[in-house]
Amino acid sequence: MSVIVVIGTRPEIIKMAPVIKELERHSIDFVLIHTGQHYDYEMSYIFLQELKLPEPDVNLILDNRKSAAQIGEMMIKLEKAIEDKKSKLMLIQGDTNTMLAAGLTALKLGIKLGHIEAGLRSYDWRMPEEHNRRMIDHVSDYLFAPTEISKRNLLEEHVWGEVYVTGNTVIDTLEIYFDKVEEIESQVLEKIQFEEYALVTFHRSENVDNLQVLRDFIRILQKSPLPVVYPIHPRTRKRLQEFGLWNEIKRISHLQLLPPQGYFEFLVLMKNCKLILTDSGGLQEEATYPKIRKPVLVLRMSTERPEAVIHGFARVVGVSPVVVLAELEKLLHEEVRLPNKSPFGDGKASKKIVSIVKSKLEVWK
Ligand code: UD1
Ligand code: UDP
Repeated sequence: MSVIVVIGTRPEIIKMAPVIKELERHSIDFVLIHTGQHYDYEMSYIFLQELKLPEPDVNLILDNRKSAAQIGEMMIKLEKAIEDKKSKLMLIQGDTNTMLAAGLTALKLGIKLGHIEAGLRSYDWRMPEEHNRRMIDHVSDYLFAPTEISKRNLLEEHVWGEVYVTGNTVIDTLEIYFDKVEEIESQVLEKIQFEEYALVTFHRSENVDNLQVLRDFIRILQKSPLPVVYPIHPRTRKRLQEFGLWNEIKRISHLQLLPPQGYFEFLVLMKNCKLILTDSGGLQEEATYPKIRKPVLVLRMSTERPEAVIHGFARVVGVSPVVVLAELEKLLHEEVRLPNKSPFGDGKASKKIVSIVKSKLEVWK
């Protein structure tokens, strides 16, 4: 009896990697399905290669890029791919359209659903991720909450499934692969133009699909008191081009724009930066990893990762240039003291998840 594991975007490949390794370690049969939501090599396959993951058994190719059609198309194609697989359990991770499509498909096919990284809530209804994660959690049978806070969110909403606190699998990923970072560090840093820099990422739809926010973001980069290294997400690049802002961003002399980076390359940039400005979810977690430990200014109005704020790693500063630049100055002039421990777990999340999965499979045999 096999387990279905679904991936489709950059962060899911990274965060599912240790779970896949653990399934392999226990010789649990699994079918790996890639939905093709992320399709460029540097947003997808590079991670399968770097993290030494198996070739997916099924690779979907999508025609639709708009959300509703994309979710619908994924469901139709997933149903076809899964029907004959005789699987009783599907594992999904996170809150993307891929995960909503997979979760709903599992529900309709009567396959039990395990949601990794359950219970995150930003309470910001502008975010597609907030729609997705709420719906997924309410159709999941097993909810693997990374922290006590996420567990509490789930209990407050009276979800139907069983809730387990496991830690976040991204910490496991870091534990498994961080040595690689040290191996390639000097090679990666050779290409970086600045000794000291802020690392920036910015891709959330509620930010980059809004012309005013993008203008403000460019203003922040222009006025940044620190040089900036910025691996740009394809969504943001496209929006900047559509809004006619591409040349403006390219003209900033203290900014080094990079294509999306491989995982180890990106971790080198995180490890060596002075601070991080981001709207990414994963970065808020990785910044708390003891071998990275970086302060983060979250360029959003909310976060579904309050643990990073409570433990002093992150501040949610919005996207207004005046506020962000003031926070940046403040951070540069204060003594930053960060905890030695991550609030997102101890690197054993995937072991806990797979042991629960194994116990379920044994009962169903
Ligand atoms: C998606 C997730 C977001 C996650 C992010 C991780 C949803 C609703 N959003 O956002 O939660 O943080 O992935 O990076 O699922 N594109 C390319 N090449 C690619 C992938 C995307 O050019 O390989 C461009 C396309 O123009 C595409 C756009 O980016 O239409 C947006 O891609 P999409 O997967 O819909 O959303 P993301 O912004 O990547
Ligand atoms: N990441 C990467 N290369 C990059 C930017 C990010 O490998 O150029 C990694 C990062 O370390 C993290 C994940 O991708 O593990 C985060 O992805 P993203 O910010 O796109 O999605 P989110 O976490 O916001 O859903």
